[in-house]
Amino acid sequence: NEGALWGARFASGPSPELAELSRSTHFDWILAPYDIAGSHAHAKALAAAGYLKPDEEQQMHAGLDAIAQRVADGSLLPAPSDEDVHGALEQALIAELGPELGGRLRAGRSRNDQIATLVRMYLIDHAKVIARDILRVIDALVAQAEAHPEAILPGRTHLQHAQPVLLAHHLQAHAWPLVRELERLVDWRVRAGVSPYGGGALAGSTLGLDPELVARELGLDRPAENSLDGTAARDVVAEFAFITAMTGVDISRFAEEIILWNTREFGFVTLHDSWSTGSSIMPQKKNPDIAELARGKSGRLIGNLSGLLATLKGLPIAYNRDLQEDKEPVFDSVNTLEVLLPAFAGMVATLTFDTARMAELAPQGFSLATDVAEWLVKQRVPFRDAHEISGALVKSCESQGIGLEDASDELLAQVSPHLTPEVREVLSIKGSVASRTGAGGTAPIRVAEQRAELIARAQTA
Ligand code: ARG
Repeated sequence: NEGALWGARFASGPSPELAELSRSTHFDWILAPYDIAGSHAHAKALAAAGYLKPDEEQQMHAGLDAIAQRVADGSLLPAPSDEDVHGALEQALIAELGPELGGRLRAGRSRNDQIATLVRMYLIDHAKVIARDILRVIDALVAQAEAHPEAILPGRTHLQHAQPVLLAHHLQAHAWPLVRELERLVDWRVRAGVSPYGGGALAGSTLGLDPELVARELGLDRPAENSLDGTAARDVVAEFAFITAMTGVDISRFAEEIILWNTREFGFVTLHDSWSTGSSIMPQKKNPDIAELARGKSGRLIGNLSGLLATLKGLPIAYNRDLQEDKEPVFDSVNTLEVLLPAFAGMVATLTFDTARMAELAPQGFSLATDVAEWLVKQRVPFRDAHEISGALVKSCESQGIGLEDASDELLAQVSPHLTPEVREVLSIKGSVASRTGAGGTAPIRVAEQRAELIARAQTA
């Protein structure tokens, strides 16, 4: 077992089957730059504590730089005999500096505290990329809202026509959850900035190394308070997986609407040719694949989160090899979102809305019945009665096959003496929307204010 990180107490080397199962270099090699950064920091801590002389420390940094260069240019790759990224890099260091100096770096650290730190560093870097990508989707939603300040959409509950709303209000309703994801990432970063490095395998170190120094060197905020917790906990990884899954779910809900809106029956949106796909057999087809992939990949992101939680459930303190299973799901979530979000943003930015079609459908389904009831309340009719009167008007209109706005003076009076012809003031879609000036409402001035707030929150996060 030449070059392995362990073996002296074993009479025989690992079976090929064990080696095959145990090996993680095919996914943890991506952490090599973080492992090397950890080694630089650890060399400083060893030197500060007197375990490396100044010239040894210097050679150590130079050797690590040489290895980093070879990792970056692809000339250094893990060998099939390497168990993981840590072993492969120690091998490379020994090849570079000789066993005497190269063999000194492992003092006072374990792969357990290393890997727990490296995953955090990786996630912190990718959280920045994902935040930027989420912001692109928010920007696309905001730009569409700005481009359609007056357009009306039939607002729905239970997917049934409910009340008319501004299209901008609806688009901004999809932006707010994404703003909260940005805020979640900021909040997550507080907990992610803890460095388990120096905790050793589980119990801490006897060597008097400075974990503050290592944390600082790695761009983290502080060392872990507890070496067992530092090496065993993965809640920070699971929380990150939750934020990615939730982001997938947020955009999947809009994706579902785009898929519906893009049907012939709805006809609310047209997708740009560059952001839609065709069929291999049906020449006429133009499909909303980005939206469908967003919906599909949200399932995958949820799976990564649930898989990770299932791995953690029942793991005793401290490190267990099961923890190696934390990386593939969360790396997959990162890769998935980093590909999905830019495509989704592009599709949203290039949607064309058929605002005439949406406006035409908005009054259908008696969507102004609530306005009639609220108008009656303003005439001092108790809401309970107002609801009954408006409901009775809907029933009469429905049986005659007409809309509320078509009801004659006679029909209004027949339904209730409270329904004077002045009720027609509120029987316009534009008037209805404009009158919803309560906090968070769909009146154009409220929606514009809300948009300013949305932009400010997204930029602060
Ligand atoms: N490859 C492991 C992981 O990803 C780290 C190595 C810990 N191995 C061990 N035998 N303690 O979690």
